[in-house]
Amino acid sequence: MAMIYEYDYLVIGSGIAGLVYALQVSKYGKVAVVTKSSINDCNTDHAQGGIAAAIDTLDSFEAHIEDTYQAGAGLGKRKVISEIISSGPKLIQYLIDLGTDFTRRDPNYDICLENLSLTMEGGHTRRRIAYAADSTGHQIMETLIAQCISNPNIQIYEYCIAVDLITQHHIVQDEGFIPGISCWGAYILDIKDNRVDIIKSRKTMLATGGAAQIYAPDTNPKVATGDGMAMARLAGARLANMEFVQFHPTAFWSPDGETFLISESLRGEGAVLRLLDGSTFMEKYHPQGNLAPRDIVSRAIDTELKKRGDKYCYLDATNVPAEHLLRHFPSINNMLKAKGIDFTKDPIPVAPAAHYFCGGVLSTIEGITDIHNLFVAGEVACCGLHGANRLASNSLLEALVMAYKAGNHPSNLEEVSFPSIPEWELIGEFNENEWVVISHNREIIGTIMQGYAGIRRSRRLLKYALSRLENIYNEINNFYQHNSVRKEVVETRNMAIIAISVVRSALMRKESRGAHFLVDNPERDDEHYKHDTII
Ligand code: SIN
Repeated sequence: MAMIYEYDYLVIGSGIAGLVYALQVSKYGKVAVVTKSSINDCNTDHAQGGIAAAIDTLDSFEAHIEDTYQAGAGLGKRKVISEIISSGPKLIQYLIDLGTDFTRRDPNYDICLENLSLTMEGGHTRRRIAYAADSTGHQIMETLIAQCISNPNIQIYEYCIAVDLITQHHIVQDEGFIPGISCWGAYILDIKDNRVDIIKSRKTMLATGGAAQIYAPDTNPKVATGDGMAMARLAGARLANMEFVQFHPTAFWSPDGETFLISESLRGEGAVLRLLDGSTFMEKYHPQGNLAPRDIVSRAIDTELKKRGDKYCYLDATNVPAEHLLRHFPSINNMLKAKGIDFTKDPIPVAPAAHYFCGGVLSTIEGITDIHNLFVAGEVACCGLHGANRLASNSLLEALVMAYKAGNHPSNLEEVSFPSIPEWELIGEFNENEWVVISHNREIIGTIMQGYAGIRRSRRLLKYALSRLENIYNEINNFYQHNSVRKEVVETRNMAIIAISVVRSALMRKESRGAHFLVDNPERDDEHYKHDTII
């Protein structure tokens, strides 16, 4: 039998954004955190490099703001950038106070906040990335999970996926017209029991991360299927800048297609990109060379590989002292060792892979959206920080600042009266024979997006992609409407919605900027396109 729960706050997603918001609002009421896998299965947990903040005496907010704006190819919002960046030191201190164990400097070295050691990444003009060896996200997650588990006001529901936000379009309208769009919680599928429950809440926070799974290959965990963006869109929220999908330049490449991230901070510590003949090339593309902004490095690799018909190039760290490599990058060392590579002696085969959504649900810096009572924070959101291309390690910072601000927003204290919310309508039996609609289309979405809407795009291929994706969406939606609901169906529906949103947005931007490169219009066109793409 379906359950009906009532909480003050519902948090969907359990990365840094979700858990920081949960901790903040737990001061005011009861919080449910819903996550579709185990609590630590999220993008945050995979974040290697670190969290950017101007905390060194040799750094300044102005320099970090300028680097962010330049990396974003002039599309970031200066006021938002400034507010997020100036909140960085205080909120890194907050993470430390909760127990996060960042790597510290040699005590003799000059001072910065808490004597943290700082690394370097692409697009930054200073060392400003705080890190915990090469598993910064994991270290932050361990801290936040421990805090949430021991908090009596927070209840965690693992293996539960949100199917739909509860808004006007679901409710029984016997109370008459309720203007605007409001959110009163979500329908939640308990994955193990295949049961759709209702969680009513005064405020709902979408902290579901990005959607890099719509590409193959990508650097993200399997959970990154754009659920929050898709649900918000279905409920009537606007999405912004969906065409700006960032490709990470250095994902591990292997013939079997298995890939994982090789942190940009490896280049920050001196590793260089080389072609298969051993020659370097980044100096031809940007004055910052190997540490150019990420969109430029990924495109440069793509160009060089296409010219030669190669599938990968090398990231060569053999010039970095072995002892330093092993101390700073123990997890990467372990993953490479499992592939038979000793990165102190051998170059690492790498190629770009989809990594991060710079766009998302249009929101303020506090996560306020078009939908009343619905917040967003982190990668799911587009608050104006990243513009057309995110500066490395600004993502954990954005998620942290947005979630903290959202959790302290006065509207969290507003009273809400709930309309009558109907139970989820169970339709049809689950038809195993038609499961291929889901498994096949999920794979095809990745192939279409990679081939037709990847690093280098053309309007013709984008149009082909759109017509194929619309057919796929219709098939999936039809399946969704005639079968009892399953996690994979919800995810694949969401992936199709997001893939279509990326392609539509890409077709609207007839210029090249940041992570969107269009062969038909290879130049940036500030006169006509220095604005967000809204759908
Ligand atoms: C990395 O460690 O290279 C990833 C950091 C990021 O995506 O900002």
